[in-house]
Amino acid sequence: MIVLGIESSADETSASVVEDGYKLLSNVIASSMDRHVAFGGVVPEIAARSHIESIIPVIDEALKTAFPTFRGRTSESNKMWSNIDAIAVTVGPGLSGSLLIGVLTARTLAIAKNKPLYAINHVEAHVYANFITEAAISLTTNYQLPTTAPKFPILALIVSGGHTQLVLFKDHFKYQLLGQTSDDAVGEAYDKVAKILGLPYPGGPSIDKVAQNGDPNFLKLPKARMQNPYDFSFSGLKTAVLRATQVLVGKDFTFPSHELAGLLNAQQVADVAASFQKTAIETLVDAVESAFKEFNPNSSVIAGGVAANGELRKLLANRISLEIPYPDIKLCTDNAAMIATLGCYKAKYNQPTADPYSLDIFPNLSM
Ligand code: KG4
Ligand code: ZN
Repeated sequence: MIVLGIESSADETSASVVEDGYKLLSNVIASSMDRHVAFGGVVPEIAARSHIESIIPVIDEALKTAFPTFRGRTSESNKMWSNIDAIAVTVGPGLSGSLLIGVLTARTLAIAKNKPLYAINHVEAHVYANFITEAAISLTTNYQLPTTAPKFPILALIVSGGHTQLVLFKDHFKYQLLGQTSDDAVGEAYDKVAKILGLPYPGGPSIDKVAQNGDPNFLKLPKARMQNPYDFSFSGLKTAVLRATQVLVGKDFTFPSHELAGLLNAQQVADVAASFQKTAIETLVDAVESAFKEFNPNSSVIAGGVAANGELRKLLANRISLEIPYPDIKLCTDNAAMIATLGCYKAKYNQPTADPYSLDIFPNLSM
């Protein structure tokens, strides 16, 4: 079973070919991130326009990388396509304009090439990046992969710019949402705090880097207490950072946040970043540890862009007795390999296919 995955939910246009739900044959990612940096976040209109520019070349490159014998022989394109058993595409959650480009492309290809089409939930797919345990020889030096797939029941922490969810997967397609954020996603909180501190977008890597030189105990910041111990809230933490920073520079709470960065020295930025990071990461790990004790899973995985965070990995290793395997960083952030992988399992487990003539987008899709 060889599946072509297509992902376009935010600023990355990606296409990937995956075999049997574990072997990566290609994973091509074109990011429009550099066009958004000046605006401090993803601009939906710019993202949608760059998907239009990139999607066909990205799919083409993904196919040629997966089937190198056909590279440069356009007359052989049909042979390349004959190796593809199905197409999987992200239908949500994400930005409407961005999702539309991927879904319309996948629908068109499914009709033109007569392939079954699978509709993929982007958040669920993040977890499936953990099932990729092998890569084609040409890719092996580019990817550091775990050697074994996770075993059910799997406790999954999904942490990205748009999502913060704790999910117990009892089997493929049988999962229980244990908790989720009631406001900001943790990656979003990183991005917002970075903005307050004048650090470049995306905030996760920026904060992670400067926090190495900071004192994590510089500020005592609050952890949100939720009725359900597996739910999260990060909006209060972000506001607490704002207030503490206003006080730090001798201003009152009416002082505009966009002027704060100019009054902070490098050490203060590092100390505030480290304090924020400590609280955010402890909040996540506290919930994972409690769920781990309650549900006794056979595997625990972390998915999404924030899984790249070194402090999160360190603290989890201290608190969880199971070894947590991590996908390569290129498979933690948005990519189509995770979409193709979930597509393989949908095909294998006879999940319903989508109608290529009517498949819609679901910008607010949840787990
Ligand atoms: O999964 P992803 O690429 O896209 C979404 O689906 O949102 O995640 C992007 C998020 C951003 O908010 C970014 O700031 C965060 O992941 N991120 C990190 C790190 N690298 C990326 N957060 C904390 N530490 C990192 N090292
Ligand atoms: Zn994502």
